[in-house]
Amino acid sequence: MSLLTDQQVIERIFRHIDEQSTELADETWREPVENYRSQKRFDRELQLLRSLPVPFCPSATIPDTGSYLARSAAGTPLIVTRDERGEVRAFRNACRHRGMQVAQGSGQARIFVCPYHAWAYGLDGSLLHIPHDHGFPDLDKCEHALVPVSAFERHGLVFVTQEESANRGALDGLDGIPTLLSADQKIFATEESLSPVNWKLNMEANLEGYHIKPTHRETFYPYGYDNLNVVETFGQNCRVTFPFRRIEKLRDIPVKERDISGMVTYVYQIFPNVTIAVLSNHTAVSISEPLSPAETRFHTFKLNNSGEGTELSAKAIKDADFIADTGGKEDAAVVAGIQASLASGANTHFTYGRFEKAIVHFHKNLQSGLE
Ligand code: FES
Ligand SMILES: [Fe+2]
Repeated sequence: MSLLTDQQVIERIFRHIDEQSTELADETWREPVENYRSQKRFDRELQLLRSLPVPFCPSATIPDTGSYLARSAAGTPLIVTRDERGEVRAFRNACRHRGMQVAQGSGQARIFVCPYHAWAYGLDGSLLHIPHDHGFPDLDKCEHALVPVSAFERHGLVFVTQEESANRGALDGLDGIPTLLSADQKIFATEESLSPVNWKLNMEANLEGYHIKPTHRETFYPYGYDNLNVVETFGQNCRVTFPFRRIEKLRDIPVKERDISGMVTYVYQIFPNVTIAVLSNHTAVSISEPLSPAETRFHTFKLNNSGEGTELSAKAIKDADFIADTGGKEDAAVVAGIQASLASGANTHFTYGRFEKAIVHFHKNLQSGLE
């Protein structure tokens, strides 16, 4: 269970170009439309998200002692921070007095002071101070620390597991693949957006290249191929490779000397709700936060690509703006159109074909995770 090398990916792409083929799933998949609409199904998906190790943010979001990020995940307000020893810590973001959230957004703190009555907590969650504490004569401070949540770092990402379970989720596939985000990658933009769509519809739009020509005719298609992808699965995760036409330039270069950077977009799906897209000049980490069956908040972190100096930021920003203004908008329009038709009664099921291999993999794993 590992990924092809860059050279193997290039060879596979050339074969697909020559044979006018693409990667194929062994089977098609029929997904009930009800699974995009039902509150019951949605609640089970949230429960699954709470029971899996799920990326919360890139490690680069909280680089130093006291850096923190507070946001909700699967319905739970959380804070992730880095303690004095440099270890990540996560807590339920609820004061132990009367439940106010002790931090908002992101920033740098030495202690977390609740804005309501100023109870103060250390970076390790311990309750350090209660103003006028003679009002709480019997309260044991040790029993009123912030409630910890399991957190760890892997592949340059902070993972959080809200409720321990036997399901290792994304983790099973992540050992033995090259590092996804490396220490030299710096965040140049962090964005949050709200979208009136089911989170899975958006995820699916990232996982196949069958729509490149019809949906992205004037934007991506002139540089890329229609329905020509390499699709690899690693555990419950997958990687979909979208080649650019300029990859042809590598044909005359000896295999070992071929450099794939700028020749493909790698889209990694970290099961179930995260994508990492390695684009020509930047890397975008997108974390879906499902809010309801028909509403999703997206947390996007944009980083320089690995091995590139900070002076490349201008190129990275240009790259990111191009994607957002073109293909990003086209995909959003399609997903909104699907969302609007869910209640039409036209489809009892959506059928995912053999070209949509990564989506079939996603639904299979989601179904078995929910069972
Ligand atoms: S709710 Fe936090 S100090 Fe009162
Ligand atoms: Fe697209």
